Amino acid sequence: MKKVYLETYGCQMNVSDSERVATSLVSKGYEITTDENSADIILLNTCSVREKAEQKLYTRVGRLRASHVKKPMIGVMGCVAQLEGETLFKKINGVDFVVGTRAVGRLSDAIQNVLEHGRGYSDLGEREFDYDWSVSDAQLHSPYVAFIPIIEGCNKFCTYCIVPFSRGRERSLPASDIIRNVLQLRRRGIKEIHLIGQNVNSYRPMTESGLEGFEGRTPFSRLLRAVAATGMERIKFNTSFPRDFHADIVDAIDEHENLCNWVHLPVQSGSDDVLRRMKRLHTIERYFNIIDKVKSSPRDVSLTTDIIVGFPGETEDDFLKTVEMVEYCKFDSSYIFKYSPRPGTPAYEMSDNVNAGEKTRRFRHLEEVQRRIQNENLQRYLGRTLDVLAEKPAAKSDGDLTGHSTCHRVVNFPGEKVLLGETVKVAITEIKSNSLYGEVVAAA
Ligand code: 5AD
Ligand code: SF4
Repeated sequence: MKKVYLETYGCQMNVSDSERVATSLVSKGYEITTDENSADIILLNTCSVREKAEQKLYTRVGRLRASHVKKPMIGVMGCVAQLEGETLFKKINGVDFVVGTRAVGRLSDAIQNVLEHGRGYSDLGEREFDYDWSVSDAQLHSPYVAFIPIIEGCNKFCTYCIVPFSRGRERSLPASDIIRNVLQLRRRGIKEIHLIGQNVNSYRPMTESGLEGFEGRTPFSRLLRAVAATGMERIKFNTSFPRDFHADIVDAIDEHENLCNWVHLPVQSGSDDVLRRMKRLHTIERYFNIIDKVKSSPRDVSLTTDIIVGFPGETEDDFLKTVEMVEYCKFDSSYIFKYSPRPGTPAYEMSDNVNAGEKTRRFRHLEEVQRRIQNENLQRYLGRTLDVLAEKPAAKSDGDLTGHSTCHRVVNFPGEKVLLGETVKVAITEIKSNSLYGEVVAAA
């Protein structure tokens, strides 16, 4: 039996692809191993969203080739595979096959091909008509939390972003399939699902089948209500696109307790000028209107975002508008990135006139502002009791468990392993920089 070691970089979509690849390989007689040294085949599921992420692949393959005693077969899948295709064979010494983002269902064919004909196989083709989106229990990244893709690809073409090229055009999965999947996962003991996609709220299936009778202005809010009706304990969704974010999403959260009180809404910049050049299709005024609506919810919805600093042509004034925007929105957390030029994107052709030192300065400054605001903002949780799903033992402190609140904060607390998979009420006693700490007061 051949052993496969799978390493995943990047976003939740990649994690989800890896889960399905592992499921299908096991069904074809392979064994998935967590020990890379015993592997006959190593699969690297790659990310290309920033240069650094892409660079990781190059160093990783080099290291594997230099040190792995078994000389395993190495396959590259994910976004770098899709973008680079066969050129990867020339760029990196030691890659045996390349499988693109929509060809993951044919991974075992790729392995078979290399076994029979040797190095150099690539498949960048489209998804097969009957692609199996299911994941077996053993291959879920958590026994209690599952990712469910509802839309793949991206049609937005923000000028800095490689995703429309690596993941192709938007395609929404049928609502009835999604709902069936949620019901099955619930029966299998899953407590929390994440509806995932590059832009979940752009969800637009071919038919309304499965959504009939559910209220909402957009198919996405109707889907949220349909999924809420399955009785799944906790439902989160990620990522949302501001232009397509309508009030009906917040209304659905207000009305369904199992739709979690967390919205991740990447803003990218606080300057309309930069937003226009990023082709984000939203203005800061429109973004603030959404934030106001989210904050008006009686549910205390937590708000997180992504921000890019140092986009081509970003002036000091533009940057200060981003700082002001962060002060206004008071995000519970934000992922801040330095702009990274991606070949093939429109922004790559713009002159990247913010030098590396300046990007670093803006990055650090914004991080500091965010840290201060975040800390002030999170004080509101002190003394409050949050419903936390006990997901696993905490990595750093013995005797503690870790999990997420419905508002998607990491919460650590002392607890016995029997609590794993349970939702518990945790009274928050301490605010840490990236997590909350508390004591269990009752089962939720
Ligand atoms: N440079 C820096 N950050 C980027 N992101 C996407 N493309 C780039 C890029 N070229 C960030 C955006 C996005 C997140 C997933 O990654 O903030 O929301
Ligand atoms: Fe990275 Fe984007 Fe691909 Fe996810 S979709 S792996 S974030 S490039």
